[in-house]
Amino acid sequence: MSSPIDVQPYKPVSFSETVITELMIPSYSNFGGKIHGGILLSLMDKVAYVCAAKHAGNYCVTASIDTVDFLQPVEVGELVSLMASVNYVGKTSLVVGIRVISENIKTNTVQHTNTSYFTMVAKDESNKPVMIPGLILQTRDQVRRFIEAKRRKEIKQSYKQEVDAIEVPDEYEQCRDLLAGERCYVAQ
Ligand SMILES: CC(C)(COP(=O)(O)OP(=O)(O)OC[C@H]1O[C@@H](n2cnc3c(N)ncnc32)[C@H](O)[C@@H]1OP(=O)(O)O)[C@@H](O)C(=O)NCCC(=O)NCCS
Repeated sequence: MSSPIDVQPYKPVSFSETVITELMIPSYSNFGGKIHGGILLSLMDKVAYVCAAKHAGNYCVTASIDTVDFLQPVEVGELVSLMASVNYVGKTSLVVGIRVISENIKTNTVQHTNTSYFTMVAKDESNKPVMIPGLILQTRDQVRRFIEAKRRKEIKQSYKQEVDAIEVPDEYEQCRDLLAGERCYVAQ
């Protein structure tokens, strides 16, 4: 399980699994009467923090958020539950997977709102990243989530390299050629 030089303790996923349920009240709604996306993001950040801090045994900060696609609108009066667990650990960072569901208690229906991945970094008293415990994987799902998170991290690194390599031509003429077919007009 641990290498001989790894002196950090290991914790099971279950140690930090966290669920938050919140009632969607009218002040959370946007102009269209649905729940504001920012409310859900704030709740996701909160549950990610609780889960990460429990595992790390330390204060944590949000380093990045991997894709938040809102699959279904959430209505006022529904219960939103956020289920969080540690999917992956690095040295000082960990990935918390969050599944969000909304529940209409009158119709007894449950909808999957979204699933996202928050990378959190543990910090010490002097605000420096600090080593976190390893992870004990006890189920096939936990193993699958760890492997998927590891792969997402690799894909993100190569994606970043590709984005960094994007070049924009100096000449407007070349830009016009590049943008042919797009719904924009280069007014120069
Ligand atoms: C994220 C942060 C801690 C990284 O600090 P840093 O000095 O660059 O630290 P390092 O380069 O040593 O990286 C530390 C770990 O974070 C990970 N990391 C850093 N930036 C990351 C990013 N954008 N996405 C994913 N992981 C990241 C590194 O891979 C490393 O992981 P590992 O130790 O498990 O291998 C720092 O930039 C920070 O404090 N940002 C502000 C966070 C914050 O305030 N969030 C709330 C938003 S208001």
